[in-house]
Amino acid sequence: MEQQIKKAQENAKSEITASEELSTLNDVRVKYLGKKGELTAILRGMGALTPEERPVIGELVNKVRDELEELIAQKEREFKQKQLNARLANEKIDITMPSKKTVLGSIHPINKIIDEVKEIFLGMGYQIADGPEVETSYYNFDQLNTPQDHPARDLQDTFYITEDVILRTQTSPVQARVMENQKPPIKIICPGAVYRSDAVDATHSPVFHQIEGLVVDRDISMADLKGTLEMFVKNCLGKDTKIRFRPHHFPFTEPSAEADVSCFVCGGKGCRVCKNEGWIELLGCGMVHPNVLTNCGIDPKEYSGFAFGFGVERIAMAKYGIEDMRLLYENDVRFLKQF
Ligand code: DAH
Repeated sequence: MEQQIKKAQENAKSEITASEELSTLNDVRVKYLGKKGELTAILRGMGALTPEERPVIGELVNKVRDELEELIAQKEREFKQKQLNARLANEKIDITMPSKKTVLGSIHPINKIIDEVKEIFLGMGYQIADGPEVETSYYNFDQLNTPQDHPARDLQDTFYITEDVILRTQTSPVQARVMENQKPPIKIICPGAVYRSDAVDATHSPVFHQIEGLVVDRDISMADLKGTLEMFVKNCLGKDTKIRFRPHHFPFTEPSAEADVSCFVCGGKGCRVCKNEGWIELLGCGMVHPNVLTNCGIDPKEYSGFAFGFGVERIAMAKYGIEDMRLLYENDVRFLKQF
């Protein structure tokens, strides 16, 4: 029997050494150590031995079994390590290779100006209002005291969707929408796109941006308007900027004015940016017309207000020295990256 055990031990060892993958190793384990394996069979046959032989053979079988199990486990570890090495070699990545650069965009100069203006007015306690770009002629014109025969309502100036629905020509309709929905005190600005039936050239575009401002409260006067706009231009264009007001006409303000700022490039001496005038025309403004207040359900005897509106592109062009408005819309990153 000892012979038989030794034989099985020899065979098993050489089969373990010869096996080249996990599955054949497993076959070897079943063949010798499994329930029906050779060593197990020997153990079972031990009943036929003499009581003296039994412990000797039992010990030998156990020893051989332990040895084989250890050999198999060792071989198994070898296989697993080999597998892992192969996988690592296979999945190796070259970390020294330069990565793909993510190209970060930059804030568009129009949005930069809008953000700056928002900051300035938020700092003065204003709120940001919003309104639709597809607007009714009622809000764009009628509510703003703009009569049927006003030239701005002309088909040549305004994009009509239907007779009553247009693309807003100004951000001013937001004034009416806010006043209808909010009791004074009101202090808002509203940035947004506006549309006019203009041909594209260096200073015109059918789509451009405006920022509207509106303040309504008790005892609001022209002095508040002037003080506010002066604060604004100094913050936005530089602390030495001067502002001047010229009488003008807008249907929705009375009195109305246009405001110019001293050229912040030459300081007023005259240069290319201000076309040698020393001043740059900046915005329209005035005291909210009593008819507009009444239209929106606010009593003009109790409340007064001022309003203003200006073009964002105009400020961007002046501030950054951009001579052709089309550059702002062409989205050439080489241009946009400069701001
Ligand atoms: N909406 C005017 C325009 O597009 C600008 C303007 C003028 C706005 C006077 C105002 C204002 O709020 O009071 O030309």
